[in-house]
Amino acid sequence: MIRKAVFPAAGFGTRFLPATKASPKEMLPLVDKPLIQHGVEEARAAGIRDMIIVTGRGKNAIEDHFDVSFELEALLEKKGDGKLHSLVRAISDMADFFYVRQSLPLGLGHAVLCAMDMVGEEPFAVILSDDVIDSKVPVMRQMIKVYEKHSAAAVLAIQKVPKEHVSKYGIIEGREIAEGVYEIVDMVEKPKPGKAPSDLAIIGRYILPPSIFPLIRKTKPGAGGELQLTDAIRALLAGERVIGYAFEGVRYDAGTKLGFLMANIAFAMKDPEIGPGLRAFLKKERMS
Ligand code: G1P
Repeated sequence: MIRKAVFPAAGFGTRFLPATKASPKEMLPLVDKPLIQHGVEEARAAGIRDMIIVTGRGKNAIEDHFDVSFELEALLEKKGDGKLHSLVRAISDMADFFYVRQSLPLGLGHAVLCAMDMVGEEPFAVILSDDVIDSKVPVMRQMIKVYEKHSAAAVLAIQKVPKEHVSKYGIIEGREIAEGVYEIVDMVEKPKPGKAPSDLAIIGRYILPPSIFPLIRKTKPGAGGELQLTDAIRALLAGERVIGYAFEGVRYDAGTKLGFLMANIAFAMKDPEIGPGLRAFLKKERMS
């Protein structure tokens, strides 16, 4: 059973400057919810209860967001706005939140390592809230099903990407053992163009065993001089079964301005309140 999810959230968000000068990029809204809340809701929908958020300097807004906002709740109650009151209350009631600091930006592997003591000796999920996925069944739920069915030590979400984009991702080499399910034999973080073993990229959802922690510790700095999670999972391949799963859903790279805008438009179009107005606007501007 997967009970805990780790959310690396200590990055500087430099791609979104100046918006992220004093606010965390994880708090940028996807329509009306911060990116990280979408990730937390996905984990919750997969039956995960404990959310471990790896933060850093300037990230207090994340803690405040998932905490009880006594003043705001009192105000909404006084106003008799029951709907907004329960919307606000539901955020802090949704799960149990734990925070740990990553004091230096040493890479994704290092961020996950920071959660080691809170995770303990059990398998856990990792969710990168930059990777927004619109799917019928929440992706983490899809992955847990695969994890159980194939008795794997680890499951990574994967997706085919255009050949010219492989250098932006961790890329796997694997053989397909069932539709969309790959037994991974090798993987490489941000391969040089022409050096990628496939066009199957790792997307920001992982199920990992606790044995990943000592492997991260042993990992040397890799691509970009950072401690890469991909390199530690590669070491796991020596003794464990690692599965790549091509999930059902549309993924947006909300870590870039363009991907973030596309995710916002896609989600807003589906929103019953603002969708019709947005569609009419796009039509008028001949944009759709
Ligand atoms: C991270 C991982 C990479 C993965 C990507 C997915 O890279 O290191 O393996 O493909 O997330 O979004 P980053 O985007 O942090 O450079």
